Order: sequence, then C-alpha cells, then structure tokens
Amino acid sequence: MEEKSKILIIGATGFLGYNLAETSLKFGHPTFALVRDSAFSDPIKSQKLQFLSHAGATLLKGSLQDEASIVDAVKLVDVVICAVSSKQTLDQKLLIRVIKQLGTIKRFVPSEFGSDPIKARVTELDDGYNFYAPKIEIRRLVEAEGIPYTYISCNFFMKVLLPSLAQPGLEAPPRDKVTIFGDGNTKAVFMKESDVAAFTISAVDDPRTLNKVVYLRPPGNVYSLNELVEMWETKIGKKLEKLHVLEEELLTKINGTSFPSNSKMLFIYSAFIKGDHTYFDIESSSGVNGTELYPQLKYTTVSEFLDTLI
Ligand SMILES: NC(=O)c1ccc[n+]([C@@H]2O[C@H](COP(=O)([O-])OP(=O)(O)OC[C@H]3O[C@@H](n4cnc5c(N)ncnc54)[C@H](OP(=O)(O)O)[C@@H]3O)[C@@H](O)[C@H]2O)c1
Repeated sequence: MEEKSKILIIGATGFLGYNLAETSLKFGHPTFALVRDSAFSDPIKSQKLQFLSHAGATLLKGSLQDEASIVDAVKLVDVVICAVSSKQTLDQKLLIRVIKQLGTIKRFVPSEFGSDPIKARVTELDDGYNFYAPKIEIRRLVEAEGIPYTYISCNFFMKVLLPSLAQPGLEAPPRDKVTIFGDGNTKAVFMKESDVAAFTISAVDDPRTLNKVVYLRPPGNVYSLNELVEMWETKIGKKLEKLHVLEEELLTKINGTSFPSNSKMLFIYSAFIKGDHTYFDIESSSGVNGTELYPQLKYTTVSEFLDTLI
C-alpha cells in the first residue's frame, strides 16, 4: 500500500484547522501542527491540542512570523495545509518563501476555503475593501514560485449562514417572517466544516487535484433561498411571511457599513444574488469536482443540518 503523506497543519487550534488535523489523523496521515505559544495557555485551545496530541499529532511550537520554526516544520512533512483566518491571508508569504526554498513539499493547500476568489463577481466595495484580493495575491505567488498546489473552493461553511437561514441578525431559523434577498432563485452551496476537511485531506495525495481548484458542490447542498425556505416550512409545518429586499437595497445597506460588520450581507449578496458559488461551470483545465472524485465520502446534507435546528 502507498505510504500516506506527512501533513503539516497550520491553524490547528482554529475552527477549520482543528477539523483538518482531526481528519488527517483519522485518515492515517502522520500529522504535525505548527502552534503558537499563546495557544497552550488558552483553556479551549489547549484542550484541542491535548486531544490532537493524544490522537497522535506531533505539536511543533512556532508561528508564521518565525522563519526558523517554519523551516523546521516544513522539513518534516510532504504536504502543508494552511488554515489561518482570512484576516491573516497575507501572513502566508513567508511560509511560501520557505516552501519554495526547501523545494521538498509535494502539495501546498493555502488558506482559501470559500468561494473561488478568481470567479467571484462581488469584489470591491464602495469603501475600497476587497475581500478576495489577498487570496488572489497568495494564489499568484504560489503559482509564480512553481509550488505544487491544490485550492479548496468549498463555498459556505454550514455554520456561517445556514443556522439562521441566511437572515442577518438571527442566530436560529425564523419561525414567522423571512427575508428573501433578490428574487430568491440563485443557488448557493453549503458544506459542513468536517466534510470540507475530509475532501481536503482526500485531495492532498491525489494526482488528479495537482495544481487544480477542488470545487465542492455536492448534490443535496446546493439551494436557492426560496428552496431553503420551502424546505424549512415543510420541516416546521408552517408557512412564513415573506419580506423582500431587492439587490439595490441590499447593496446600499452593504455599502453603508464597513467590513466585517457587513460580512453576512456581503456573503448573501455574493452567493444568493450574484451566484458566485454556482454561476460558472467547472473548467477541466483548472478545476475538478470534489464530490465526483470522492463518491465514497459521506457528507452532511442541508436537509440533515436543518433537521438539527427543528
Ligand atoms: N467558507 C466559509 O464560510 C468560511 C467561513 C469561515 C472561514 N473560512 C475560511 O477558512 C479558513 C480558516 O478560517 P477559520 O475561521 O477556521 O480560522 P480561525 O478559527 O480564526 O483559526 C485561525 C488559526 O490560525 C492560527 N494562526 C493565526 N495566526 C497565526 C500565525 N501567525 N502563525 C501560526 N498560526 C496562526 C490560529 O492560531 P492561534 O490559536 O494561535 O490563534 C488559529 O489556529 C480561512 O481561509 C477562512 O477564510 C471560510
């Protein structure tokens, strides 16, 4: 049997990174995590680290600002997966320089894990903020350095908008009134974060995903707002009153606030009005459909997720 690659996770104390580290171990990869000193004194993060360590992960102290720690960590592995938050996207530059200099990494997965930043139609806001620019800058750098890569385009994490049925300001799905943004017919994609991790770890040793974007759009997880509301109405046995917010109105609201306060409205606009998750077909020269590559991976569907909220 082919040996499993050794995987370094950067961001293992974080939301997605922890899922990635857990899954990497579960799938039998020797797993390493580069962890900042401060995480060990944080009660929740230290518990996560203890769990990973007991499960077999090797914890390495270091940070994306500490070159020597990155060099030592990268030397130990075949694959690097970075899962720092979107605010820290550009902090990956030193890591990329180290990966290039060492020249030993078989696959690098930079921290993306959202809409495809190249395809996104929603880019610059009135205040000049561009959510995708740093992610595009990192892609360009990785490609210019000739580093073997895989980008994971998983669209929405379920925890972000699904618990409120894409209603900014709510923490749970509505039971009386619901706001439909735009005409409500544009489809978005939702992925449970542990499933994003399973597809990511499956992709890192796969020659079919080398220098490709892996798009996650599984059947059962691609829905318009109208379809989501209808599904929820069926589950709770009640029709909701529909309020409508048109594109112009939503844009005015987004531009009247700055990022990140407007982030939920921005993501709703991007996915449910502009169709950033689904308006394009996957081009075989640059992308692959993750669900088709790994049909054996069972994933949580939107319907199953909504069942947990009834
Ligand atoms: N598609 C979606 O709906 C969606 C939603 C959320 C996030 N995302 C994407 O998922 C990715 C991960 O985001 P997340 O929310 O899971 O992140 P997160 O929970 O904020 O975790 C960030 C992790 O990065 C670590 N980190 C930060 N700076 C570091 C440094 N200088 N050196 C080493 N480690 C450092 C943190 O470590 P400490 O414990 O030391 O702070 C933490 O483990 C991002 O690309 C983000 O854009 C997508």
